[in-house]
Amino acid sequence: MKTTTVLIGLAGIIATALVAAEVQNYATAATGDQSPQAVVDAQGNLRVPEDYRAAYQLLGAWAIAADQGKGSQELHVVYASPGAIAAYRKDGHFPDGSVLVKEVFATDTTPMKTGTVSHAQALKGWFVMVRDSKDTHPDNKLWGDGWGWSWFDADNPTKTTSTDFKVNCLGCHVPAQATDWIYVNGYPPLGEG
Ligand code: HEC
Repeated sequence: MKTTTVLIGLAGIIATALVAAEVQNYATAATGDQSPQAVVDAQGNLRVPEDYRAAYQLLGAWAIAADQGKGSQELHVVYASPGAIAAYRKDGHFPDGSVLVKEVFATDTTPMKTGTVSHAQALKGWFVMVRDSKDTHPDNKLWGDGWGWSWFDADNPTKTTSTDFKVNCLGCHVPAQATDWIYVNGYPPLGEG
């Protein structure tokens, strides 16, 4: 009886240590800070990194033209975790643990001194991807083809509404398959734009 309790206790401690180690890994890779604040938890659940606007580097932006009339119906702004851009410029790949965040904004379009101008008006949410070339979460449907993939509504940056990257994401990223599923031609800092 006693032995069982001790064993269960030990297993718990080891499991906790493993979880902490994994969280720490991603936290370091994602933001360069050592706090347990993480982009990925031990089960592979993603979240929007808390401080990405200050800690990440700007990759680039996309303007989605309005279906009718002038201007853009959406603006997409993409950030990369620290070091990801420099590593990409060396060998043409994002290293494991790299995090990409794409903000999706609804817009307002107004005449300004520069012309007809669309600006970010309301944040709809975020797409987040985490590089994982070794596919370390084979049983999690939000991971595969070298990345973790998730969408977050603006009101909940910690819980994804995505359920399966093959259904929610992959089809649309096929045109970018040759560049690890990333639309690198839109990102001047990579040297591809
Ligand atoms: C309707 C098609 C479509 C769907 C669905 C889609 N994407 Fe994308 N994604 C794109 C396109 C096109 C771009 C680049 C141009 C843009 O943002 O409009 C892009 C860009 C991105 C970027 C910026 C990095 C890059 O690849 O250029 C991230 C991050 C991203 N998508 C993540 C996701 C995730 C995660 C999902 C699923 C939850 C997803 N996307 C679903 C079409 C899509």
